[in-house]
Amino acid sequence: MRVLLIGAGGREHALAAALNRDPQLEELHVAPGNPGIAAIALCHQINVDDNNAVIELAKKLLIDLIVVGPEKPLANGLADASRAAGIPCFGPSKAAAQLEASKDFAKQVMRDAGVPTAKFFTCTTKAEIEKALDTFGAPYVVKHDGLAAGKGVVVTDDREFALEHALQSSQVVIEEFLDGPEVSLFGISDGHNIVAMQPAQDFKRALDGDLGPNTGGMGAYSPLPWAPDQIIEETLTKVLNPTIREMEARGTPFIGLLYAGLALTNKGTKVIEFNARFGDPETEVLLPRLKTPLAQLLLKAATGNLKGETLDWSDDSAVTVVLASKGYPANPVVGEPIMGIAPVDGSQVFHAGTTLRDGILHSSGGRVLAVTGIGADLTEARNKAYRVISAITLLGSHYRSDIALNASVAEKGN
Ligand code: AMP
Ligand code: GLY
Repeated sequence: MRVLLIGAGGREHALAAALNRDPQLEELHVAPGNPGIAAIALCHQINVDDNNAVIELAKKLLIDLIVVGPEKPLANGLADASRAAGIPCFGPSKAAAQLEASKDFAKQVMRDAGVPTAKFFTCTTKAEIEKALDTFGAPYVVKHDGLAAGKGVVVTDDREFALEHALQSSQVVIEEFLDGPEVSLFGISDGHNIVAMQPAQDFKRALDGDLGPNTGGMGAYSPLPWAPDQIIEETLTKVLNPTIREMEARGTPFIGLLYAGLALTNKGTKVIEFNARFGDPETEVLLPRLKTPLAQLLLKAATGNLKGETLDWSDDSAVTVVLASKGYPANPVVGEPIMGIAPVDGSQVFHAGTTLRDGILHSSGGRVLAVTGIGADLTEARNKAYRVISAITLLGSHYRSDIALNASVAEKGN
């Protein structure tokens, strides 16, 4: 099988590594990729926001499957263009990708599908915004309607700040605050059938103790020893299956990765958000643990053949810690040299925002590397990830020191 993967981040590096392990993979091409991915696949420097350029490349390379990593090409209709050209694509159509691209759309689908989620109002005027804020009270949750690369959501006790944030967008969703631990649970869908992956937890805040601003994600771990046993089954029944059914009934089947961001509240599991793609950095802990051959799995999804599919997981634990640039997330400083990358046995260093300059690796994004440790339990996995990340030097960079800490302590206590 010849696969073309789209994207350039840590998620795509982890996808590339997992695709490569599939015995049926013959060639792996990535556009545009990054220096880490270039070590394990053939990279092509094309503009992936230009659907024609991607399809032309795929035809030239006789590609059997296109796998789309990031949300932007999906919202841009790349999957539609791929399928129109007769090339199976793992990734939702532009219409189905609205589940991520529009918060209001996602809320409507959840309502029609009976999926549990926070109560909400969609607002376009100041009066509507103020009424919604006062209906729910603090903490206020305000979400810009469109794709905002993690910057559209504000959760705050400060009504003034909530109002100010709301007024920055022409349409906002204001919703009830959901209290409880957050879990990311991904489903792989062929449009009709959906297979759940194991849950992972992501750390969204920049600083230890869940302080500081929201980021794209500073670390993750899987599995979750503390999570209720039935979480996968319950999410399939209450969230993933009804959503896939609803999308199919609307004539816009969802083919690809349905990312359910869940809050485990004392009133049950509720959806915080949907994404239409693999999460980053959750992918960097999930895929190293997945034993099912990934290229074959994603091809089955892309061609409507997932019925009866089950996933095979290793019993190992995985912990990923993200190395971020100075100033991330507000004003990341890029272009600094990176030294000291030396993976140990049972660790992987995924490149997220790196570039080669005169043969030397430099930072090129806010999130620079995602370091995954794999071990028999979370403690061992953490130790490996932190041993590797602490040896890396990048001027002014920072990482959280408490990724999976509580879970590893609780696991040891059991
Ligand atoms: P989203 O982009 O919708 O995932 O929001 C980003 C982050 O904001 C989530 O991971 C949560 O930590 C937080 N958040 C979003 N919606 C809510 C909510 N209704 N209640 C509590 N926290 C929320
Ligand atoms: N880890 C959060 C996301 O991928 O959106």
